[in-house]
Amino acid sequence: MRRWLSRYWQILTRPSMHFSLGFLTLGGFLCGVLFWGGFNTALEATNTEEFCISCHEMERNPFQELQGTVHYTNRSGVRAECADCHVPHDWTHKMARKMEASKEVWGWLFGSIDTEEKFEAKRRELAEREWARLEANDSRECRNCHEFESMDFTAQNSRASRAHSTSLASGEATCIDCHKGIAHELPDMGPDFEASQAHSGLASLEAYVAHLPNEE
Ligand code: HEC
Ligand code: HEC
Ligand code: HEC
Ligand code: HEC
Repeated sequence: MRRWLSRYWQILTRPSMHFSLGFLTLGGFLCGVLFWGGFNTALEATNTEEFCISCHEMERNPFQELQGTVHYTNRSGVRAECADCHVPHDWTHKMARKMEASKEVWGWLFGSIDTEEKFEAKRRELAEREWARLEANDSRECRNCHEFESMDFTAQNSRASRAHSTSLASGEATCIDCHKGIAHELPDMGPDFEASQAHSGLASLEAYVAHLPNEE
């Protein structure tokens, strides 16, 4: 074994006699491109809705719920897919989220949410992870499509323009503070919902609106 290894090592380190350095460099470069391309294609494949749904197919599933919302059908025909809201666009954050998501594979192997009962029981915990993510990144995934600078307050209903021109504009609140449950049904939050929101001082959209200065 040792002999075999040392011979192998010799072959690897011996200068190549058959190929010019230029050929090897070019070859290495091409292999790199092919590998990288393949890697990114594979990465893209894990961003498709089909991929997400292949696991998230439980009885009351997030996809079914999404279909009832404005993010699935609307007058403009612009549609948000799973990855638009759940996977960062830029490379570094995307990789970080993909690494983190590898634990979803464990969850899947061990069936952490493979029945409706288990999903419902765990739903709040999962939703809270997602909220924490969006709160920490100032709702970055929402802002990929909804740019604050491009919001025309005069075209919004009065509740919306009041909230957006005050708490959102000042940075006191971010999209997800007020817009929970826009894509899926909210988990059963129970009476301690308000308490769980205490850190941000926000209870819910309605509570938020109640605190806004009156119109006029
Ligand atoms: C291999 C199966 C599998 C695939 C593919 C998959 N998920 Fe998951 N996902 C799970 C499981 C299982 C959980 C629950 C993890 C747990 O129990 O902690 C989960 C949890 C989640 C959560 C809850 C938040 C969190 O941090 O746990 C979100 C959001 C989510 N997945 C979105 C997606 C999206 C978007 C895609 C496609 C880009 C996707 N998933 C692809 C199995 C999968
Ligand atoms: C892929 C682009 C995209 C992403 C990502 C996205 N949205 Fe939207 N959103 C839309 C479109 C398109 C509409 C519908 C516009 C229309 O009315 O024609 C919409 C509508 C809305 C509405 C109006 C709801 C209603 O009932 O009229 C709210 C609120 C909203 N989005 C919040 C969010 C939040 C919060 C996030 C992040 C969690 C988010 N959006 C992520 C594209 C997106
Ligand atoms: C301070 C709370 C608050 C924050 C923060 C907030 N919104 Fe809103 N938003 C509202 C309220 C209130 C409405 C009106 C809802 C209603 O009338 O039921 C609204 C409505 C909307 C609408 C629909 C507008 C219309 O006229 O129909 C969109 C789109 C929207 N918000 C997107 C966003 C996005 C994207 C962000 C983050 C960049 C955000 N909101 C942050 C409170 C907020
Ligand atoms: C418009 C943005 C948006 C889209 C599109 C979207 N989600 Fe979500 N998703 C959210 C938000 C925000 C949460 C956090 C809980 C909430 O507010 O409903 C969430 C929560 C979840 C959860 C945690 C359990 C729960 O129900 O709260 C899962 C799993 C999930 N999404 C999977 C998916 C899958 C799969 C798709 C595609 C079929 C998808 N999501 C499409 C915004 C989105």
